[in-house]
Amino acid sequence: MTDPVVAVTLPDLFRMKQEQRKIAALTAYDASFAGILDQAGVDVILVGDSLGMVIQGYAHTLGVTLQDIVYHTQCVARSVRRALIVADMPFMSYHSPQQAAENAARLVQQGGAHMVKLEGGRRRAEIVGFLSAQNISVCAHLGLLPQSFHQLGGFSVQARDEHAAHILLEDALILQEAGARALVLECIPAQLAAEVTARLAIPVIGIGAGADCDGQVLVTHDLLGMAQGRSPRFVKNFLAEAGSVSGAIDAYVRAVREGRFPGREHVF
Ligand code: KIV
Repeated sequence: MTDPVVAVTLPDLFRMKQEQRKIAALTAYDASFAGILDQAGVDVILVGDSLGMVIQGYAHTLGVTLQDIVYHTQCVARSVRRALIVADMPFMSYHSPQQAAENAARLVQQGGAHMVKLEGGRRRAEIVGFLSAQNISVCAHLGLLPQSFHQLGGFSVQARDEHAAHILLEDALILQEAGARALVLECIPAQLAAEVTARLAIPVIGIGAGADCDGQVLVTHDLLGMAQGRSPRFVKNFLAEAGSVSGAIDAYVRAVREGRFPGREHVF
């Protein structure tokens, strides 16, 4: 008889942080990829609104709807046995606490998500607090915020100067205080990410944020070399060496766990 699968929980992620065991996270949007990731031991599967770009073919994430995320989370949840499933709250789906709670509840109840993720700093603290009070686990997201694409004028490294770095660190502390139970840091200098990770009790998962975060996440299509155009600096193509999709995912999980990814060449 095979051993029963033990699902990853939020307390497990906190324990991994305390024990300095790296968390491996990846995106998935369908049952087939989610199954491969789950089998490979990926701890957190993110149904990211990056699906707008890699599945739907938009130039950014702003066209993704709540129904899109519900649908893709359902597809993922059907084949996941172990990983913790995080679903993104899409653009304009969390502009008031009440609206956020209704939409997050759909991601949990209909989609099968264990946690929801939303972008933004201290201005989101009230919403994070409201969701936490309804027992919905929230992952915050700081640094490069793809839903601010038009305001930012594109995708670029954030918080490079001292003032912006200070604001980001304060935002992280405020969101943790408000009830966020995890944080994604995207495209910020590695030194700042290391400081935020050290100052927070909640698990911090980085993408383009250096090797000192508690875990790493990538868009799965990127690590398989499927990105259109030039790959961002923080991406590594794991398929090129591994030769198969499952081999590439295995290699990513091992590299994250052993602290070999990201390397110096992937950080800002
Ligand atoms: O949507 C997404 O895939 C994300 C990751 C880039 C962290 O938010």
